[in-house]
Amino acid sequence: MPLSERLIRRLPAPVRSQLDDWRQAVDVFVQVRDPKVLRSLAPSGVRGLLLRRGKQGQPTRVRAAHHAHFDWAYPHDHPEMAELYRRAKLGQWDSDDLPWHLDVDPLNPESPLLYDGFFNVDILKDMGVHLTEDEGRRLTHAVAAWMLSQFLHGEQGALFAAAQVTEAVQFFDGKLYGATQVVDEARHVEVFLRYLESKLNKLYQINDNLFVIIDALMADARWDMKFLGMQIMVEGLALGAFGTMYQSTSEPLLRALLANVIQDEARHVHYGVVALRDHVRTALSEAERREREDWAFEVALLMRNRFMVYELYEEWFEGLLTRDQWRQVVLASPGMEQFRTVMFNRLVPNLRAIGLMSERIQPAYAEAGLMRYFDGAAADALNGEQMLAELDAAPAAAAK
Ligand SMILES: [Fe+2]
Ligand SMILES: [Fe+2]
Repeated sequence: MPLSERLIRRLPAPVRSQLDDWRQAVDVFVQVRDPKVLRSLAPSGVRGLLLRRGKQGQPTRVRAAHHAHFDWAYPHDHPEMAELYRRAKLGQWDSDDLPWHLDVDPLNPESPLLYDGFFNVDILKDMGVHLTEDEGRRLTHAVAAWMLSQFLHGEQGALFAAAQVTEAVQFFDGKLYGATQVVDEARHVEVFLRYLESKLNKLYQINDNLFVIIDALMADARWDMKFLGMQIMVEGLALGAFGTMYQSTSEPLLRALLANVIQDEARHVHYGVVALRDHVRTALSEAERREREDWAFEVALLMRNRFMVYELYEEWFEGLLTRDQWRQVVLASPGMEQFRTVMFNRLVPNLRAIGLMSERIQPAYAEAGLMRYFDGAAADALNGEQMLAELDAAPAAAAK
């Protein structure tokens, strides 16, 4: 073992964690190849990964720099967005109608929040950490609470991004549609928070990498970058993640909640694809298109590689396992693997549909193992009912 490693091992666990955090942050920066992408992500990277602004217990203020776009002629300029607006009005639902009266016992093996084996406890055993059956159930509860907490934080980002995009977008039909999305996202914040507070009694802080992405797109002045960041990347990944959880849980309230949220999100991603498709193909120069293509790829990797559930590590295993060992545990967990990969079955076809998967970038996606999603249906060809039907038809790994 090199001397530096030996020295690090002698440090107290929280200091070791901090050092590992910094090393990971440097890794992120070193891996970004396009200097423009690096410039756009770096300030948020410093705030999120080094200063850990999301974890200070203080509200975060991000300066928004976009222009609000007014149009006093009120053009009927986009029939497909007008149709989405009409569907969004009809698709509104009242969060109070969900079966909140149901008792949720996160430790009840009869209706597990996540299937047995979602999280790999055997590998923990190999590393000398033995969990009792009860501890195993409590860990599953913690994993579910961690995932739902990240959904909640993502929804707060979506709420503000939807509001910003509604101001900034130039399509008037898009502005009316956008207003419905703002309401949808408020409802999503409400239901995830209510579920966490009243049923799981647990709320985790925002993951540092999620903070970086939200911070970066809030501050970006370019509306299409906000669109790309929120409507395609975060929403697309969220859709996949919601789908995984929907398939993984047999807790009826959570299933009902996720089914409703998935149908809203299907409209949001559809809007993102429609709005960006023509813009990318006709309004951007090739250099601008390439920058967005690289940005999307870097953010996709950030989301795939960096969600290492450290918040749980710090609570459960700091001092028992090294962070390296913890990463192995997470990477070897069937549920986490499914969570990471299923996220991309929506995202990749959408990037293809809007023109950000040119032959230039495809080898990079292939190397990351993501090209298998390339031929899937994009969001403009799928509605929420079809997505739910697909999820119901393909049971989760555990049920197979
Ligand atoms: Fe949402
Ligand atoms: Fe959304």
